[in-house]
Amino acid sequence: MKIAPSVLAADFSNLECELKDIETGGADLVHLDVMDGTFVPNISFGPPVIQSLRKVTLLPFDVHLMTYHPEYYFDSLGKIGVDMISFHQEAVIHVDRTIHDIKSRGIKAGIALNPGTSLSALELVLPLLDFVLIMSVNPGFGGQKFISYTLDKIKVLKKMMKNLNLQIPIEVDGGVSSANAVLLKDVGADILVAGSSVFGAADRKKAIDVLRS
Ligand code: DX5
Ligand code: ZN
Repeated sequence: MKIAPSVLAADFSNLECELKDIETGGADLVHLDVMDGTFVPNISFGPPVIQSLRKVTLLPFDVHLMTYHPEYYFDSLGKIGVDMISFHQEAVIHVDRTIHDIKSRGIKAGIALNPGTSLSALELVLPLLDFVLIMSVNPGFGGQKFISYTLDKIKVLKKMMKNLNLQIPIEVDGGVSSANAVLLKDVGADILVAGSSVFGAADRKKAIDVLRS
């Protein structure tokens, strides 16, 4: 199980220390939430901040684009050197093209699905993906309550992959905590994104260990 702390819940006045803290605490990835104030009702940060953060940690960068026109950001994210980019199926008309756009830059491509979006939206492009991001809250804010029907959704996705002979990592994002990490592992989640449950804890290493175990 990989743990990807979400910077959205970190202390923005001290991001270098926050990233070093999760790096020594054993995080596997850094989850970076980019919001445009239109696709989701909030804004966060974009490529300039991600570029600065790239200098202070060796951890892989997992960028979650909660934006319309995710392709606007691919050039700059490619130059910065991020490892994974997910975009929302709901935000894009040319899903196939967008996946290829990301992969052509040597970056792992993932599709994010809102809680209310059916898995059928993934069916045709699943073999092209490097990972799938299942939202377990409505995107836009940290610290929300985990939506438990997404557990069944992950189970069904796992079955879909099995039927297609695919093994694609499933990332789960939103409301992940020690209260649901075991359930998520049981249904087949591979990467847990955790904002408030990691950065809200005084001991980040302990919080990461608890989620992983
Ligand atoms: C929500 C973001 C999440 C968020 C998770 O829109 O995509 O990555 O930071 O935060 P928590 O873990 O606090 O729900
Ligand atoms: Zn996210």
